[in-house]
Amino acid sequence: MAILEGRNLRKTYRLSRKNTVEALKGVEVSIEKGEMVAIMGPSGSGKSTLMHILGLLHAPDPNHGPAPELYLSGENVATLSDNARTRIRARRMGFVFQDFNLVPTLTALENVLLASTYAGIRGKQARQAGLEALTLVGLADRADHKPAELSGGEQQRVAIARALVNKPEIILADEPTGNLDSDRSAEVLALFRQFNREHGQTVVVVTHDSEVGEACDRVIRMRDGRIRDHGQNVAQVADAPATATPLVAVPV
Ligand SMILES: Nc1ncnc2c1ncn2[C@@H]1O[C@H](COP(=O)(O)OP(=O)(O)OP(=O)(O)O)[C@@H](O)[C@H]1O
Ligand SMILES: [Mg+2]
Repeated sequence: MAILEGRNLRKTYRLSRKNTVEALKGVEVSIEKGEMVAIMGPSGSGKSTLMHILGLLHAPDPNHGPAPELYLSGENVATLSDNARTRIRARRMGFVFQDFNLVPTLTALENVLLASTYAGIRGKQARQAGLEALTLVGLADRADHKPAELSGGEQQRVAIARALVNKPEIILADEPTGNLDSDRSAEVLALFRQFNREHGQTVVVVTHDSEVGEACDRVIRMRDGRIRDHGQNVAQVADAPATATPLVAVPV
């Protein structure tokens, strides 16, 4: 069953009356529950815009074409209020943003705990989960550092810990390994895969890195505001029998 399904997803950014950018030109996309999917494509092709719409951060444009549809586990979420969308995001989704989005005045642990607070988890239980998430990304000893006291790669890992802390159903990560060396990058992917296997989490990773793409079950390729290839789920392909088994036993 699709956990996320979108149709007629369009987004035009309007900078002035004459200056507009059609970032998404009508996208149809379906992501199965438990899939680990990469979204790849050239810079400016609409990957982050699509991720923000799938993550209910932005609403698709309602005008200039067929009505947009967006379903989360079969429920229509295209027209929900901002408040309803915020609640769903806090409880069911974890985000890693391309520019990290860490709060500069808070420590690494406090940044991670923000996600817990939004989901209504507080106190000792939250603190322990926060420290565990930081330990998972190898930053237990940096819990009290503020973002400016961390390297770019470390900030990225704090953002990943924040996305994982509530064990959300869906992880949406925008270039989560963009600032990491190949060893760290492999570790982060292994972590996503572990969460994906152990908790059945759906993972959507926007990436420029073909190695990240190869580590996923499927690669969706975008170009110029459209999906040009939906890809094939390698796990499902591997599960299917290679050749049809004969129904009648053949004497040997
Ligand atoms: N807030 C905005 N206002 C105006 N234009 C925007 C805005 N955000 C994105 N765009 C434009 O929309 C297009 C798609 O942007 P988007 O960020 O989705 O691309 P992307 O595929 O994520 O690129 P990258 O790989 O560089 O992150 C780009 O041409 C970009 O300039
Ligand atoms: Mg982007």
